[in-house]
Amino acid sequence: MATATAPAPTKPKHAKPRVPDQQMLIGGKWVGSASGKTFDTTDPTNGETICRVAEGDKTDIDLAVKAARAAFEFGPWSKMDAAERGRLLNKLADAVEAHKDELAALESLDNGKPIADSLAADLPLTIACYRYYAGWADKITGQTLPIAGPYFSYTRHEPIGVVGQIIPWNFPLLMQAWKWGPALACGNTLVLKPAEQTPLTALRVAQLAQEVGFPDGVINVVPGYGPTAGAALSGHMDVDKIAFTGETGTGKIVMTAAAQSNLKRVSLELGGKSPNIVFADADLDAAVEGAYFGLFFNQGQCCCAGSRLFVQERVYDEFVAKVTAKAKARKVGDPFDLSNEQGPQVSQEQFERVMGYIDAGKKDGANMLVGGGRVGDKGYFIQPTVFSDVKDEMKIAREEIFGPVMSILKFKDADEVIARGNKTLYGLAAAVWTKDMQKALRLANGLRAGTVWVNCYDVFDAGAPFGGFKMSGVGRELGQYALQHYTEVKTVTMAL
Ligand code: NAI
Ligand code: MG
Repeated sequence: MATATAPAPTKPKHAKPRVPDQQMLIGGKWVGSASGKTFDTTDPTNGETICRVAEGDKTDIDLAVKAARAAFEFGPWSKMDAAERGRLLNKLADAVEAHKDELAALESLDNGKPIADSLAADLPLTIACYRYYAGWADKITGQTLPIAGPYFSYTRHEPIGVVGQIIPWNFPLLMQAWKWGPALACGNTLVLKPAEQTPLTALRVAQLAQEVGFPDGVINVVPGYGPTAGAALSGHMDVDKIAFTGETGTGKIVMTAAAQSNLKRVSLELGGKSPNIVFADADLDAAVEGAYFGLFFNQGQCCCAGSRLFVQERVYDEFVAKVTAKAKARKVGDPFDLSNEQGPQVSQEQFERVMGYIDAGKKDGANMLVGGGRVGDKGYFIQPTVFSDVKDEMKIAREEIFGPVMSILKFKDADEVIARGNKTLYGLAAAVWTKDMQKALRLANGLRAGTVWVNCYDVFDAGAPFGGFKMSGVGRELGQYALQHYTEVKTVTMAL
């Protein structure tokens, strides 16, 4: 029989972890940097140091590449059955799952994202990604070729070799999984440089990979800065491929370094200014919810954020009122409080950058309806901000803001919004909200973007490729498509 009892004292299940100073992983050994240098990784809720991290530079990258090369050419990895590689990736997925509370807490500590999001989104997607590529390991096949003459000809899809990977700070665990899953499934060895703002989960997952039995040198992690460690990796003569996620300008630098060194293969996942298009015949409440989530999720720090929100004129005022009310009610604060929806921006630098865009919006004459300021007096918290009456030429409608700043534009009809939606150097994602499926398909075909969501936003799955048209990138991550960026095709022809 149920009796009325006082509620149990609410003990926070997810407390901020304490983290010791961190080394780097090279050739199966945890070591300090060759120079002895370290850098601080900081807590974005207060700017305080979490711990010190070994700071890698050219010498450390050289050592890591040597270790990866040796593991690729001579180690047990080079002779391992494909199925066994899949088994190791599944064991890594199991290990990440077994440590999901710990990893979610570490991710939220280093990045500032709400622990509720880490638990509900980052961890499940990360685990699913490792499992998905575990399944591919022994299903990567070539073709037999009916060429002319008395020959037997076939292709092999071989690993590329030593892969360099540079990831950003907005989804550290997930970007690591997007990079490691296909690289390891295909039989490559790798050197990862995590973002200097968020190195902690990458190092912890590397430890787990070591525990589940990845051979020494297959996985190397060298934390450090972009212009030093990152540049050494992308310009290295013995790295066969570089995979990068981050800002478009940095992507150009990485591609140039690849071209000027050894023409290593390059895949890039870069910025965006994605149009999210709401027609008057849409389910308006669903569109409001999708637009709100598609912009404010992860403090607005998403490459595919719906940062140009086009609303058809007939429902414009109603839509703006509804989405502004939601932004006003958004709970901003301590990421370790499960009821908060928004944490701080990742760093002082990003905080200032976003505040600069808010100023630009005001100066250019957009109508700021809510937000615009910081929250509290320490840490990098920014109020959810909404601008209406945004015009295509304004800075906030052209450049990637990467913060909780919504820009709403008005449109008349489908032709006009397709043209305006495409008037950008980017082409990462787009979305359309309408109940008219003919119109939805017309927009889906007409918008030049790597992903188009219809009546939804930010739907991700390890099986669905993601990447950009135009200056949003080169190549696709996830799905079967990612495998082609981690294999070389070899044609073998034998006379009969
Ligand atoms: P970034 O592109 O400079 O950094 C991403 C990664 O690249 C980090 O690991 C960094 O250390 C590395 N890197 C930086 N310079 C490098 C170089 N010269 N050679 C090799 N690697 C290098 O991005 P940042 O500076 O952290 O953020 C600036 C802006 O970039 C953000 O405001 C946002 O607009 C955009 N960005 C986009 C991301 C996306 O997912 N598309 C992710 C992060 C940032
Ligand atoms: Mg940068």
